[in-house]
Amino acid sequence: MSVQAWIVERIPVSGEQLRELTNEPVPNHLKRWWFCLGGTPAYLFLVQIVTGILLAFYYQATPASAYESIRYITEEVNYGWYFRSLHKWAATFMIAAVILHQMRVYFTAAYRRPREVNWLIGMCLLMASLLTGFTGYSLVFEQLSYWGATVASNLSDAVPVVGPIAKEMLLGGVTYNEHTLSRFYIVHAAILPAAMILLLVVHISLIRLHGVTELRSADDPVDKPTHFNFFPDHLYTEIIVGLVLMVLLSALATILPAELGPKADPQTTPEVIKPEWFFYVSFRWLKMFSLTFAVLSTGFIVAAMFVWPWIDSLLVRITKNRDASVYVGIVATMLLIGLTVVEAVLEH
Ligand code: HEM
Repeated sequence: MSVQAWIVERIPVSGEQLRELTNEPVPNHLKRWWFCLGGTPAYLFLVQIVTGILLAFYYQATPASAYESIRYITEEVNYGWYFRSLHKWAATFMIAAVILHQMRVYFTAAYRRPREVNWLIGMCLLMASLLTGFTGYSLVFEQLSYWGATVASNLSDAVPVVGPIAKEMLLGGVTYNEHTLSRFYIVHAAILPAAMILLLVVHISLIRLHGVTELRSADDPVDKPTHFNFFPDHLYTEIIVGLVLMVLLSALATILPAELGPKADPQTTPEVIKPEWFFYVSFRWLKMFSLTFAVLSTGFIVAAMFVWPWIDSLLVRITKNRDASVYVGIVATMLLIGLTVVEAVLEH
């Protein structure tokens, strides 16, 4: 009996059935890389899982040994510096790719009926990606990661009702203590990745069920096909994007490897506390307003982002203009870039 026949007898799925399952016709605009940006965070998420497992072989989540275990990974483990740097750069790229993918979805209004639920799932993926970045940064137990986590947990006190409870659950106490790091670790390495895998299964299934949003323009040629095959055409595009990213990540990991700042010292507050770049915008916002206003308005903005598909349909009805959300998006993008740059340039 041939190997193929042996396998098919035990797993009775034919190649034809598999091809049918994966071969979604994809609209032509997905040939442009900025339209199919969703595949990029999916690929980077895989890189994070593989490099994260390798780091977990050596990382120890206690205040007494976390910093030393990271120093050991960086300086003594074979290729430890490389995998740690890959993990760090892929995290940066993943969050950037999620934001760019969300912008593409937003500016092409691909969240409109019937894809509102997938927008909600996407928002959960955005929150989970940001939280994973935050908890990962805190695991290093250097001055900045320790004080960043302390500032962030103090901020949640300003959120009415749920804030103090969330803070205590995350820290494992009222303030940062010896249980905090292991909480961050389990949230970073188990709870959030598991939640993201579940969310991604639903996200991708819904995309498969609805198909990707069709975008037609008046000058599209009428005699050319409007779709191409997912398998193998689109898969090849994704493989090429993955290979280019791998080269880029390896180059960055080698030229600009992840460093290790001074060890956390709970007695000495550093002069300048900065979060990771993806929180610059919220950090600058906090510095511009009173604590209560900044925290409540951030909550309000995030809530509005969640329900944006419904706000958008209200806007269209009121303004009778289907592009109203584009103007809101342009202002929001300019604010996002502006505040991030200001926070990056200014020390305080
Ligand atoms: C880990 C994060 C994410 C991954 C891996 C991911 C993956 C994908 C993929 C592969 C697609 C197919 C089309 C494309 O490549 O653009 C897609 C479409 C979509 N995504 Fe995401 N996504 C993520 C986050 C988000 C976020 C943050 C949002 C918005 C809040 C979002 C909302 C959507 C919507 C509405 C579609 C349908 C687009 C259409 O029909 O044109 N996704 N996503």
